[in-house]
Parts: sequence; C-alpha cells; structure tokens
Amino acid sequence: MVSADGHTILLVYEAGCVYALDNRCPHMGFPLHRGTVRDGILTCHWHHARFDLGTGGTFDPWADDVRTYPVEIRGDEIWVDVSPRQDLRAHHLRRLREGLERGIPLVIAKAVIALWGAGEAPQTPFRIGLEFGARHRRAGWGPGLTILACMQNLLPLLEREDRPLALYHGLSAVAADTEGESPRFPLAPLPGSAPDFQTLRRWFRHFVEVRDLEAAERCIVTAVRAGADARQMTDLLGAAATDHRYASTGHLLDFTNKALEALEGAGWDLAEVVLPSLAPGYVEAERMEESARWRSPIDLVAILEEAFDRLPAALEAGRDRRGRWQGWKELVTVLLGADPAAIAHGLVDALREGATEEEVSRAVAYAAALRILYFSLANEFSDWDTALHTFSFANAAHHMLRRWPSPELLRGVFDAAMSVYLDRFLNVPPAPPPEPAEEHPEPDSLLPHLADLLDRQGQVDEAADLVAGYLRSGGAPDRLLAHIGALLLREDRNFHTIQMVEAAARQFETLPDSAAREHVLVAAVRYLAAHAPTRRAQLQTYRIAWRLHRGERLYAD
Ligand code: FES
Repeated sequence: MVSADGHTILLVYEAGCVYALDNRCPHMGFPLHRGTVRDGILTCHWHHARFDLGTGGTFDPWADDVRTYPVEIRGDEIWVDVSPRQDLRAHHLRRLREGLERGIPLVIAKAVIALWGAGEAPQTPFRIGLEFGARHRRAGWGPGLTILACMQNLLPLLEREDRPLALYHGLSAVAADTEGESPRFPLAPLPGSAPDFQTLRRWFRHFVEVRDLEAAERCIVTAVRAGADARQMTDLLGAAATDHRYASTGHLLDFTNKALEALEGAGWDLAEVVLPSLAPGYVEAERMEESARWRSPIDLVAILEEAFDRLPAALEAGRDRRGRWQGWKELVTVLLGADPAAIAHGLVDALREGATEEEVSRAVAYAAALRILYFSLANEFSDWDTALHTFSFANAAHHMLRRWPSPELLRGVFDAAMSVYLDRFLNVPPAPPPEPAEEHPEPDSLLPHLADLLDRQGQVDEAADLVAGYLRSGGAPDRLLAHIGALLLREDRNFHTIQMVEAAARQFETLPDSAAREHVLVAAVRYLAAHAPTRRAQLQTYRIAWRLHRGERLYAD
C-alpha cells in the first residue's frame, strides 16, 4: 500500500502486471488489502464483493466499482496517476439509476449524499426518481411516487442537513414500489392534429366511466402533447376523479394531486411521462356509491347528488359576495355534526353566501384534521388510517381547487365532508384537548423532549401537550415543522404517516388563525407519536452511507 494525495492506494502484482486501486472497498469501506486475489479478481473479505483488478468494475452491483488508477512502470519505479476523476457527477447519477433499478437503498443513499455534497440541485435526483417510477410500474402511480412527491414538498421546511435524507426516503420508496414490477409501455398520443381539449376531457371521463384503460390513457397523453397546461390537466383529471364518490378511499384524488405537485417541482416537460401513469388508478377505482357505508342507514350519495344539483345556482348567487364570507368557524361546527343533510346544506349555503371553493375546501380539510386531533385512543389502531384517509383526501381536494376551482372538482369537497361525518365515531369519546404545562420561557428547549417522547410507544397525548406548549410559549412554527420533519425521517417509511405530516404542513400554510394552525400540527404529532418508534432500519442504512461519505471507518478489528 502507498499513500498519495490523501488516498490509500493498494498496489497488486498479478500475472506480470501492476494494478493500483483505492484500498477502501466502495461497499462499506473494508480495507481491500485484506482481500484475496485469484485469477484477476479481487474479493473483499467483509461481504465478499468481487472486483476486476484491471478496471475496478464489480461483479456485485450493490458494492459499486472500485476506483483504479493508471499505472506506469519507469525502470524500477511505479508511477500512479492520482489526478481527480472528471466524471464524478455522471458516475453518481448512474449509480442512482442503478440503485433504483436494483432496489438497493444503500446505493441510492450514497448517490444522493454524493450529489448533495457536490452541490447538485435536489431537483436532479427528484426528476430521475419521478421519471423512473412513472415508467417502471405497470400499475402506474402508487405509494412510492406519492412518498417521493411528499418528500419534495417537505424539503423547503426541513433543516438543510435533513434534505438528502428526505430525498433518500422518497427515492427508496420508488425503488421498493417498482421492484419486481413489469414496466409500463406508454401509449403514443392520437396521430395528427388533436381534438380540442373539451372533447378530450369528455372522452376521458367516458372512458374512465366504462373502465377502458388504454383509451383513458390515450386521452391524457394526447391532451398533454397538444399543449394542455397544469390547470387544464387539473380540470380534466379532477372532473373524472370526482365523477364517483370518494374514489378508492380518497387515494385517486390524492395521487392525482401529488402527481401535479411533483410536476410543479420537476418541470412540466415530464407531464407526458408522469400523468399517463395515473390512468390505471382511474379505471380501477373503487366507487363509494357501491359501498354499504355510503348507502345505509342513510343514503349519503342521494344527499350529495341533491346538493350537486344546487351547486351551479349557489355559485352564481355567491359570485357577487366573494371576499365577504365570515362563516368559517360556523361551517366547521356543522361539518363536525351528526347530520349529513345539514352538512351538505351548510356547504351549499356557504358558497351561496360568497365563500370561495378554496375557502369551503379549507374548512373541510380543517374539520378532517380535527378528527385526528380528537381521535380517541380507545379506537382500534387501524382506525388512525381511516381518519388519515379523509384528511389526506380533503387536503388534495383543497390544493387541486386552489389550482383550478371547477364545479366538478368541488364535488370532492362534499365527498370529504361526508367522510368527516362517517368518521365521527372515531371521536367518541373525544381525546382530551392538549393541556400543556405553563408557558415555557425557552420553548426551543422543549423540542429535544419531543424526540425523547417518540423514542417510546404510546406517547400520543404527551407529544400533543408538548407541541401545544411550544406554540403557546411563542415557539417558532417553522422550527417546529422542521423538527417534526426530522422526527418523521428518522422512522422507517410509513406511507400514511408521511402523508399525515406533509398534508398537515401544507394545511398549516393556509389556515387563518393560530389556534387552527396549532390544531393541525398537534394532529400531525399525535399521528406520528402513535406510529413511533419503528425499527429505524432505513435510517441506519442512510447513516452508513453518510459515514462512508465522510471517510469514516465502519469496520472494527
Ligand atoms: S464487500 Fe467490501 S465492505 Fe462490504
């Protein structure tokens, strides 16, 4: 071995040739001089990765290629060229793709950390993951891409050092979701000059109605190729997603919203790849008008259809009163009531009185968050997901309406309101409201205790008290959000917990008063505390990658 320019270089004499390699195994840093050479192949003795001595290429892609150095023999001397590599960025991007293809979280983590350390914009790995996930899962957009989109949304709220960890979680979720799946073979747009947008929109709804996958997908790709923008595609997709009640327990609209948000971060140029991946979810969606819960003992669908008939007139009447509606709190009270007809009427009346589509959808999302705030610990554990589905769906409807306030999409808000009504049993008895100790003179000193609480199971109410105490003591909400994000990222990925924290963070930005903002963050922390701690195995993988990046020694003699 020799040292040069900060490198420890292993020199190997084999079959009349001299080879120079980085002595650090690219997998987890074991010293390769302790390995074995046989027939031109070097085997590391820790996990037995094998490398071609000449090129450094590995036969075990989970390990990565080891760096080799050009060697020149000058008389009795061996000269090794340790000039910096020119192709590092391309190498890390290739490794990221390989990690996604082979579903190897350690490879993904190493690539993300290396790119981050080299100053690469987070958009680069995000785009790679988004495109990969959209192309390589025949079932189309799923939880993996949704997690990736959630992580992208959370990035600006996180501390800088937590951002690559968020990307790693998102990209690893995409890899897990595509592993073993057959790829999608995308359809081309209709040839020639495309039909007008309204025709494509009508056709798309029809093909979804009759569950014709290829026809529906072709409408999406044709609309995008013809130049439809984000607002138009929100309109087209949102109308079809709400033609049936609470489709797929809200996942259809939620996935659609996340795909559109992902494109905001990645760039609209990926729309033709990404949006058609939603089509399977549309044609396979479960329709709640076929579910007993929505039909009996009260026919909620009939109530909703009657309300939908009244929507155009209510919107027309409210148009001149926009900006003057003050009934937010009263509407939330109605939404949390036990009379579904009154809930539907309350929404229609609010619109007639001048509430915007965005305002009523925000009220419904807030009411859905209150179901989680008051979620009784006497419920079955799986019922956390019931309340989460409603909140996540209501959040999606809210954000899609912010993008494009169409009357059809507004039906999703009514669906969410009915789901809030159906979830009312989850608040019987209601969880006690947070009761923080007195105001704390240094609220930031409370945050480490939140991490301690989440090291133990079942600290739901204690975590709620701490968060409420932090905010009421004047703690900075952005620091709290970053802290909650960090606590989310140290746990093993749970699709629903990620949705909860991300939707709460998005709702937090839009809520009108500090009490409501506190409620939504306390709801998020209650959910997180109910699902923590996990094994934190995914964090362990990330930490290994991080230590390797810093050149730390992982093995012990
Ligand atoms: S194979 Fe070398 S450290 Fe794992």
